[in-house]
Amino acid sequence: MLGVDIGGSGIKGAPVDLSAGTLVGERHRIDTPQPSTPAAVVDVVARIVEFFQHEGPVGCTLPSVVRHGVVGTAANIDESWIGVDGRALLERRLRTPVALLNDADAAGIAELTYGAAKEVAGLVCLLTFGTGIGSALFVDGVLVPNTEFGHFEFKGGEAEDYASARVRKDANLSWESWGTRVGEYLRYVERVISPDLFILGGGVSRRLGRFEHYLHCSTPIVPAQLRNNAGIVGAALSAAALI
Ligand code: BGC
Repeated sequence: MLGVDIGGSGIKGAPVDLSAGTLVGERHRIDTPQPSTPAAVVDVVARIVEFFQHEGPVGCTLPSVVRHGVVGTAANIDESWIGVDGRALLERRLRTPVALLNDADAAGIAELTYGAAKEVAGLVCLLTFGTGIGSALFVDGVLVPNTEFGHFEFKGGEAEDYASARVRKDANLSWESWGTRVGEYLRYVERVISPDLFILGGGVSRRLGRFEHYLHCSTPIVPAQLRNNAGIVGAALSAAALI
């Protein structure tokens, strides 16, 4: 099954072995076109499908609210996506059924099936720290889609402008100052939803050891296990559900 993860800077795809939740070979990455309009992005997805000579359903993620195929927000892609039926657009271009979902939701589905959330009951909250902050919420293994906790109003702005991995790099924050910010944010989310488990995803999850002692959060925190491939794997899982 083919999964494609559409991000603000790169569009990455790979065939996925769904029995193991792993990529079959190398993933193929193409820079996100600028401006990242629906037509331009869909062209790149078509190139990835052709590269793998894939036939059959395709799963795609977007860094957006996606309700029944229709894109609701566009924080890190071109605004012209808003209101577009992205699923219908992709299906017309690729001539195959497409599952389209939020990137953090896809990562969460992958962690739930193969990784850190496997067989975890109760309320599980996955937060991905990258250019933005993505969120996926599960209640006893059932996804509550499009939660968008990165856009909570926080410290006079949006949470992702205070504590995303992009902010750590752009503001050249030490692990201590950034970890302290992430801790403040996690404690805020904790007060709002009282989760049983936080899963931290995104590239920084590999380096949890550098900042976990600054988080001071009473909810257990574990790193995501599928690393950068969670979006692709979750997208492929969603495509498999179409069959
Ligand atoms: C977007 C979310 C996305 C997250 C991670 C946020 O800016 O609003 O939809 O999941 O970034 O890419």
